[in-house]
Amino acid sequence: MAHTDLLKPPEVIETRQLVLRRPRLSDADDMFDSYVADPEVTRYVTWRPYKDRREVAPFLRSRLARWGSGEEFSWAITRPQEYRAIGMIGCRVREHAADIGYVMSRNCWNRGYTTEAANTIVNWASNLEFVYRVWAVCDVENKASARVLEKIGMQERAFLGDISFIRICRPSRETALCIQRFVESSSKRGPVSESQRRNRASVNP
Ligand SMILES: CC(C)(COP(=O)(O)OP(=O)(O)OC[C@H]1O[C@@H](n2cnc3c(N)ncnc32)[C@H](O)[C@@H]1OP(=O)(O)O)[C@@H](O)C(=O)NCCC(=O)NCCS
Repeated sequence: MAHTDLLKPPEVIETRQLVLRRPRLSDADDMFDSYVADPEVTRYVTWRPYKDRREVAPFLRSRLARWGSGEEFSWAITRPQEYRAIGMIGCRVREHAADIGYVMSRNCWNRGYTTEAANTIVNWASNLEFVYRVWAVCDVENKASARVLEKIGMQERAFLGDISFIRICRPSRETALCIQRFVESSSKRGPVSESQRRNRASVNP
């Protein structure tokens, strides 16, 4: 399941404090200046800090291509009074499950922005008729991200061992634990199929 037409992701979503919008190539400089080059921001994510602002455009092109193919939807997180991207949130829909990931510029931390953005995207994904599970993975040491997931109603479901996600984040550690959190979708119409049931029970990322 990866059809943009079927999923109909909104290109712009207004929330109480934010505007989430489809990224543009012109976001590259703002992203470089605000978060993609910051080692504190990239500490627990699967990519390393960007060293050169020219690296950002290819990344954005890949995000836009993924939107087009339905592989992944990424929204630039912005504030209504300004256009620039202060963070990004992404969502992938696979079969009956969706997962989210996010990042926020350090000078905007602890204002509730990511919680608001994550809540909005999880609600969007949960409201897709065929989605029965929304999940996210975060490093056990990433307390801020765990708190965001907790605030949007996810529950800890599994500790994962040495998976590739962790090897990329923390190559210096052989094994590390990781929390996987889920939010079950609200009641859906119709009977639950066997594949939906399996998907609900799965703990694999
Ligand atoms: C995780 C991240 C996106 C959170 O963004 P944010 O906009 O600051 O999140 P919010 O303001 O919505 O919520 C943060 C919560 O974490 C709490 N928090 C922050 N640092 C914390 C810490 N060290 N220990 C415990 N709680 C912490 C805040 O107090 C707040 O909770 P509260 O509202 O109950 O006070 C941001 O820290 C970030 O970009 N980190 C680097 C990238 C990253 O880790 N991405 C996620 C990968 S899974």
